Amino acid sequence: MHDQLAGRTVFITGSGGVLGSTYVRRMLAAGARVVASDLPGHRADALTETHGDNDNFRFYELDVGDEAQVESIFQRIMGDGWEPNVVLNNAAITGELLMGAGKSFPDFADTSVSDWERTMRTNLTGAFMVARQMDRDIVGRYPATLINVASMYALNGPHHRIYEGMPFKSFSAYSATKAGIHGLTLWLAGYWAERKATVNTIAPGAVFNGHSDEFQRRVGELIMAGRMAQPDEIADAMLFLCSAQAGYMTGQLVNVDGGFSGW
Ligand SMILES: NC(=O)c1ccc[n+]([C@@H]2O[C@H](COP(=O)([O-])OP(=O)(O)OC[C@H]3O[C@@H](n4cnc5c(N)ncnc54)[C@H](O)[C@@H]3O)[C@@H](O)[C@H]2O)c1
Repeated sequence: MHDQLAGRTVFITGSGGVLGSTYVRRMLAAGARVVASDLPGHRADALTETHGDNDNFRFYELDVGDEAQVESIFQRIMGDGWEPNVVLNNAAITGELLMGAGKSFPDFADTSVSDWERTMRTNLTGAFMVARQMDRDIVGRYPATLINVASMYALNGPHHRIYEGMPFKSFSAYSATKAGIHGLTLWLAGYWAERKATVNTIAPGAVFNGHSDEFQRRVGELIMAGRMAQPDEIADAMLFLCSAQAGYMTGQLVNVDGGFSGW
């Protein structure tokens, strides 16, 4: 639908990743103005190379764990003439990012407090700071919506055996932050309702990103659909949540997981 997001100005954190970059592409095609943000680096560069010439696209460097940067982000965007009415708390330390180049994935017993706190800082404290800034700068001034990004591993535990022998695993801090972010959604939904702001959580399932045939087989057995998701299938639901058609939804958790959570 070309005009599904007409009139929407969408601010996205962590926009350069597998899902974020898909949202940017799909939202621009659906008629939104897109304010992308991410840490500086190759993901940010790829976004600006792809969309930099589009008048409906802007990019801002933003570390969601940096309080001063978050506190000025909406004022910067508004100072440049755009007013975001949709905000996506999408940035996260995911398994791949935690592992880093060449490092092996830590077992639970070897998980350091610094990795735990780094994950909390980005995934949960960062989401809180963005939401708090939205409250200060946007909520009550004009109608707006916040979408917090959780995961299939927020309210369901991983089947740890599917990770045996794999270079990556699920990790505890990730699940804890993703459950916590839905708590933030529930808290804010009632708090913002009278000021005409809605807030929902999306919980994507396992998204294919070059995984081995063996991993796809193992995880596919746990999913009603029998396979991993394509990024565009998560974007389909995300675009709906960003659109006016979701206007009567607030405080909800939307699972887009091929039925993983439905068995
Ligand atoms: N891909 C999946 O299978 C999957 C499944 C469930 C949930 N999710 C969630 O969807 C969201 C997007 O995931 P993805 O697959 O695109 O992940 P990704 O790792 O490809 O992208 C994450 C992005 O967040 C950015 N980021 C990390 N730390 C940041 C910080 N401090 N400040 C700003 N940006 C930061 C990274 O630079 C990266 O661009 C995440 O919240 C993730 O937890 C993904």
